[in-house]
Amino acid sequence: MKPIQWFPGHMHKTRKLIKENLKKVDVIIEILDARVPISSSNPIIDELTGDKPRVVVLNKSDLADKQVTEQWKVYFKSLGDNRLPVEVSSKTKENLNAIVRGCQTLCVGAKWIDRRPVRAMIVGIPNVGKSTVINALAGKKKAIVGNKPGVTKDMQRLNVSDSLQIYDTPGILWPKFEDQDIGFKLALLGSIKDSILILDEISMKGLEYMVLKYPKRIKERYKIDELPDDTVELIELIGKKRGCLISGGAIDYEKAINLFLLDLRGGKLGKFSLESPGEEIGFFSDQFES
Ligand code: G4P
Repeated sequence: MKPIQWFPGHMHKTRKLIKENLKKVDVIIEILDARVPISSSNPIIDELTGDKPRVVVLNKSDLADKQVTEQWKVYFKSLGDNRLPVEVSSKTKENLNAIVRGCQTLCVGAKWIDRRPVRAMIVGIPNVGKSTVINALAGKKKAIVGNKPGVTKDMQRLNVSDSLQIYDTPGILWPKFEDQDIGFKLALLGSIKDSILILDEISMKGLEYMVLKYPKRIKERYKIDELPDDTVELIELIGKKRGCLISGGAIDYEKAINLFLLDLRGGKLGKFSLESPGEEIGFFSDQFES
């Protein structure tokens, strides 16, 4: 995937299109990455959608820490009756029906509910799994390009069932930029490539986080009895154990870090989450601030 170039014109257009198209839908389906629900959200959705009912989809739950996902559901529920958090995995097609049911539930009591399907707009930043969700919901049906009366040409419409019609985001949404920590977490997960130059440092921070939250997994995966306090010492140990060496027997740090990163992204370190409700933001960026 090429890095996405964000620029004000592009952002302005998406904002305008969402605003216009919001009037045509009853519900928002917001797709988030369950491992980083705050970092994978888009800043304008709250601002633009106001009270519009919202199914908050914690997608990729097959990769996330189940306990933390439960906490996130409680958190999103606490934001108001118009939010309905659901946990799904669009890749393994787990619990997808919860999205359909959620849309229905949020519209119970609407005067049109017996006459037409619920209309919902799917929104989410790149890589959270929007296309996978849409394809999984669609089954064999194909997305209809919106060139019919009443359908904006920038929106794709899809009849999921008699009770639900979904529209794709009219434009591309961007992650929150204001906090460096957010970009680092998305880079660690491979969702953005912008920070590639400091990916080694971000991965080291990821290792530190895993040691803090899931020490047993690190011990088991790399067969280490006592984890050193220092992350550099730890990566050396991992490198030694896994034969990441350069000629002369010195540790090949880059290879060892890459091995950890592949293990993390490939699920070899188990299901994990990089943020929990109430946790302070800044863990991933604090070493870069001085
Ligand atoms: P987008 O439209 O929001 O940009 O996201 P997209 O569906 O393209 O998904 C981005 C990546 O996330 C894809 O992986 C996709 O398979 C993966 N993904 C989406 N939903 C889930 C999920 O629930 N669980 C897991 N484990 N992965 C999910 P990719 O490596 O880019 O592509 P692919 O080789 O898997 O097709």
